[in-house]
Amino acid sequence: MLNSENNEILTRVGPGTAMGGLFRQFWQPALLCEELPAPDCAPVRVRLMGENFVAFRDSSGKVGLLDAHCPHRLAELFFGRNEEGGLRCVYHGWKFSVTGELLDMPSEPAGSPMRCNPNIRAKAYPVHEAGGIVWAYLGPQESIPPLPQMEFMGLPAQNFYTSKCLMKCNYQQALEGSIDTAHLTFLHRSMAPMQKDVFNVGHLQEYGDADGAPRFFCEDTEYGMRISARRDGGEDTYYWRITQWLMPAAVLVPTAEGLVCRANLFIPIDDENCWWYRIRYHAGRPLSDDELAEYKGGGLDYAKLVPGTYIPEGNRANDYLMDRTLQKSGSFTGILSAQLQDLAVQESQGAIADRTKEHLGSSDTAIVKCRRRLIESAKRFATEGTIPAAVARADLYKRRAVAILLPKEMTADQAGTHPATLPSA
Ligand code: FES
Ligand SMILES: [Fe+2]
Repeated sequence: MLNSENNEILTRVGPGTAMGGLFRQFWQPALLCEELPAPDCAPVRVRLMGENFVAFRDSSGKVGLLDAHCPHRLAELFFGRNEEGGLRCVYHGWKFSVTGELLDMPSEPAGSPMRCNPNIRAKAYPVHEAGGIVWAYLGPQESIPPLPQMEFMGLPAQNFYTSKCLMKCNYQQALEGSIDTAHLTFLHRSMAPMQKDVFNVGHLQEYGDADGAPRFFCEDTEYGMRISARRDGGEDTYYWRITQWLMPAAVLVPTAEGLVCRANLFIPIDDENCWWYRIRYHAGRPLSDDELAEYKGGGLDYAKLVPGTYIPEGNRANDYLMDRTLQKSGSFTGILSAQLQDLAVQESQGAIADRTKEHLGSSDTAIVKCRRRLIESAKRFATEGTIPAAVARADLYKRRAVAILLPKEMTADQAGTHPATLPSA
């Protein structure tokens, strides 16, 4: 459990909060590149950590992220005309570039001192496109850190697939679900023997089902935490799942060597909603048509989305499309899609889970450590201005998660630092 003061620190990310201050030191996903599909396409509303912005792609293809409201009289720039190298507010025609520069002020007479006042501009934020994501930096503009170098961000476009899905709960519940390897054995279990590894994650089904109580070895690292979970894996081996938590809210989820890799990013929209950015990637080959069809179509691993949106069809109002007959016969939950299974339990914890009421066990070790690290980092930033080392060390984000069978004599440290945990392996 957590006392309510620390739960507040952990979960509140708006402007002026301790955690919000910490998160703003890191580059954050603002939206998917595909949401701005072409030059001069429609602008998109973006809400990030309780603040509102507008994103647009100008005539030359550059992306801009501006404060949502026009600096003239605060109309929403979302309604603007995106044309000829800038976004023009529809109220009085002021026009802004992707860097926020005022390009035109047709409502003021020629010669008006307003027209050449350099202080009149839209507030713009640095953005960068990588890995299918428009990343934004909302922190102090005088010290912009390098973009984190997660493996998928450096791959050719055909080697990764990036999507997002709305979650109606605080980001931390989603993050805790992703580092909680113990839940895989239960929430995502299929009771009917499966013909194949439908989630394409290697031996998880076999060893996870056989050993529902993994031993956890959590190692604090500069980039966050390495979570090594050990299960029985046969006569001479253990089945290790090495999960990587990359501060502040990214998780690399283990798959067996050679299989498609997985990354999850949980990005606060505000305190009670977050985006689950989900990335599948393979460093050595393009993703196949079958893989892409499952990711895009949803149903089994991915949630089906309401067409034209990033909102899942299954939700609290329809019990995430739960089928009680299926729950008796084929699935632990009766909810078909693994992503919806996560949404069901994590949203059910409450918009912001009241962690004063929990009873944590040893299988929650990683979660306790993750909370502690975030809370301490937020407090240190708020009181001393200390920025986590990982902010400036983009290379630290070059990690992999791996699920691997290793000889029993290997220690947790040896397993956790196995060469397969680095992309160059
Ligand atoms: S409010 Fe935007 S131009 Fe007037
Ligand atoms: Fe899950």
